[in-house]
Amino acid sequence: MGVGVSLSPLASAVAREGGLGIVSSACLDRLVSKRTGKKFNTYEAAYEEVSRAKAAGGFAGINIMAALVRDYEDSVKGALDAGADAIISGAGLPLTLPAIQPPKDTALIPIVSSARALDIICKKWGKIGYRPDAVVLEGPLAGGHLGFKMDQIDVESNRLENLLPPVKDMAVKYGDFPVIVAGGIYTHGDIVRFMEMGADGVQMGTRFLATEESSASEDYKNAVVGAKDEDILVAHDPGSPCGLPFRVIKQSPMFVSALKRLRPPKCDKGYVLLKDKEGKFSVCPAKASNEHHFCICNGLLSSAGYNPDKEEPLYTVGTNASRIDRIVPVSTLMDELTGKALIS
Ligand SMILES: Cc1cc2nc3c(=O)[nH]c(=O)nc-3n(C[C@H](O)[C@H](O)[C@H](O)COP(=O)(O)O)c2cc1C
Repeated sequence: MGVGVSLSPLASAVAREGGLGIVSSACLDRLVSKRTGKKFNTYEAAYEEVSRAKAAGGFAGINIMAALVRDYEDSVKGALDAGADAIISGAGLPLTLPAIQPPKDTALIPIVSSARALDIICKKWGKIGYRPDAVVLEGPLAGGHLGFKMDQIDVESNRLENLLPPVKDMAVKYGDFPVIVAGGIYTHGDIVRFMEMGADGVQMGTRFLATEESSASEDYKNAVVGAKDEDILVAHDPGSPCGLPFRVIKQSPMFVSALKRLRPPKCDKGYVLLKDKEGKFSVCPAKASNEHHFCICNGLLSSAGYNPDKEEPLYTVGTNASRIDRIVPVSTLMDELTGKALIS
């Protein structure tokens, strides 16, 4: 979970409990530089955070968003050199991932929201001799950016249960690699149900957001605990400059300001910049039409305690945030999710 929610404290706690702990690469250079008081570039920050996540033992990797074009390759190289167990990559199609550097023992795992997207990735990767080691299938109930157009989010055929069979078939077609489902999975019972339907694992975000080890600010965690069903919506206009629908708590200060058109995005962090005609990273969609976007870099950095006095926070959550009523340690949550807490 980016920005700065899943860092090494959360990922290593998950790894210690037998899960695959995932740090987020988003804005890591600033976050790690601030924490250590030493300047880290993108490569060094990915290397540092993956190494720390793995230090306590168990399996740990990194999520690198394809939409973060400028920093993508350096993040991948830093994570590979640090020996990440997995790189999970979505928010766009990670078509170049295996071509960046030989992955050795690192599992390369794309995120998709349809069988068609998986087909495109497998064809492209196949041309250079790779196939995904697993795939994350993310449905429309997830937090963060969604891989669906606004009018597709509530469509019956896009429910995670209905997306799973065609994606499973596609994974079988290309060599029968594992399918990991994500988006709206909340209980041990949900995990069992999806495994019985053919999933090989689950990826979870929102429940781990409200753990002691998550690096979300206390205000963010409290907003999750306090959120009701009607407080959670998919922001589109104003929305994320990445161009994808983005689920938020509607009371998030950055979102409230954007709705009232109170603050134009600042675009001074540069993580979502695209190349201009001269090949320079200078284009942020929020700069071009600042009425319609919020400042996602500053909003999310603020939610992770970076410049909270200067920037308004933006809280992203999955639909299930409304069910969370307390902040727990990762060990307690993992006991519940694995069913241990039910047995003992
Ligand atoms: C706070 C938060 C931040 C997230 N950030 C990212 C991200 O940076 N990259 C990404 O691919 N997915 C991101 N996600 C999606 C999660 O990785 C996960 O797939 C999803 O939230 C699963 O649904 P759940 O929250 O219902 O468990 C984020 C989710 C949350 C709640």
